[in-house]
Amino acid sequence: MANDLAVPGGDKQSFFSKLFKKKEKPFTGEKMKVGIIGCGWIAGSHVTEYKKMNDVEIVAVADLVEGKAEKFARKYGLKCRTYRSHKELIDNEKLDIVSVCTYNKTHAECTIYALNNGVNVMCEKPMCVTIEEAIAMTKAAKESGKKLSIGFQPRMDPNFQELKKVVQSGELGKVYYVQTGGGRTNGIPTPFGTSFIDSETAGIGAVGDIGCYSLDLVMNALGYPKPLTVSGYLNDSFGKDPKTYIGHPEYADKFGVDDFAAGFIRLEGGICLDFRIAWAMNLNTPGDTLFFGTKKALRVPSTPCWNGSIPKAMELSRVNQTTGLITKKKIKKFASPNVFYLKIRGFVDAVRNNTDVSAPPEQIIYNQAIIDGIVRSAKLGKEVEIELPEF
Ligand SMILES: NC(=O)c1ccc[n+]([C@@H]2O[C@H](COP(=O)([O-])OP(=O)(O)OC[C@H]3O[C@@H](n4cnc5c(N)ncnc54)[C@H](O)[C@@H]3O)[C@@H](O)[C@H]2O)c1
Repeated sequence: MANDLAVPGGDKQSFFSKLFKKKEKPFTGEKMKVGIIGCGWIAGSHVTEYKKMNDVEIVAVADLVEGKAEKFARKYGLKCRTYRSHKELIDNEKLDIVSVCTYNKTHAECTIYALNNGVNVMCEKPMCVTIEEAIAMTKAAKESGKKLSIGFQPRMDPNFQELKKVVQSGELGKVYYVQTGGGRTNGIPTPFGTSFIDSETAGIGAVGDIGCYSLDLVMNALGYPKPLTVSGYLNDSFGKDPKTYIGHPEYADKFGVDDFAAGFIRLEGGICLDFRIAWAMNLNTPGDTLFFGTKKALRVPSTPCWNGSIPKAMELSRVNQTTGLITKKKIKKFASPNVFYLKIRGFVDAVRNNTDVSAPPEQIIYNQAIIDGIVRSAKLGKEVEIELPEF
């Protein structure tokens, strides 16, 4: 399967629904060896999808917490070795692929160690916490010659791809303004404890956790123009309130990240990006995702496009500036496939066939630069510039 999910024969909807139902063909070659670092919730989704594949085997899993890797292996029926850290796992195994499923703060460390030791990495989103980490990860991927992809599964959705197609077709004319973001009304993520809200483990809050999806949705559609400057704002009033946490008022003291972020970003090519994201707010949505072009505008319905999914038909509109007449056209909505399977399958195929990965670090570093810019700017209380090395 091609990594960009080019669809043979055209009709995406029937292609994806067949792919989702179809069992993989038996495989007689050498299976690729996979390791899992971090045994929390998202690691379960990686394992579920790897287990559907005939050409890979999970040989080892690791977690820092005593007994967690063993419990995880039992839960998913894995007959594999277990370790207490990413280093132990990589030092003791001969791996082709590792899934980095740790909390944000250790994405960079685990990814760089794996790449430098010759292992291809599927790292979960957000790429990392700081721009320095993102630069080091991108360099490690380049210098090692190994593959690195970031876990943006919405990229595998045909609606997500259709958005890019429309924006890139030129139908909108020159795009000069984009509004995006949204988020949850009361969704500070604490079902499994405090790893998403403690600055020691998460490093960043809503801005990285779900903000990275909205940013990828629009930046991917625009062709990932370079971010130049950012003016950012962060808030933490819901996160710091003990009443937010049913049964766990003590989590409020642990809260060390943001529960709301906003940013005004100037992009290369004279485009400005107006972004906001929330884990909690007193409103169901701050609005749709909008692309303003000189010929047409495009509306992506708000809920829940902040997470990269497009649940309702997108709409193009044009206003005749002489008569004021508005013309609207809906864009066909495709059924969404199992994007988690496609994310992992695409990465395995890219490693096996030496083809491009779906979310390469050279693109996602811009996503991370915006997140880092928002955090820096919010701390300084003024606009900041973004400077990135050439790769
Ligand atoms: N793509 C998605 O849809 C999606 C969904 C949920 C979470 N995520 C991302 O996945 C990551 C993990 O989320 P989660 O909910 O599974 O978190 P979690 O906190 O439940 O699990 C992370 C685990 O990693 C372990 N860990 C940390 N550093 C380690 C190291 N160096 N070696 C071994 N183990 C280590 C921790 O002990 C912990 O058990 C986050 O960055 C999150 O943003 C992605």
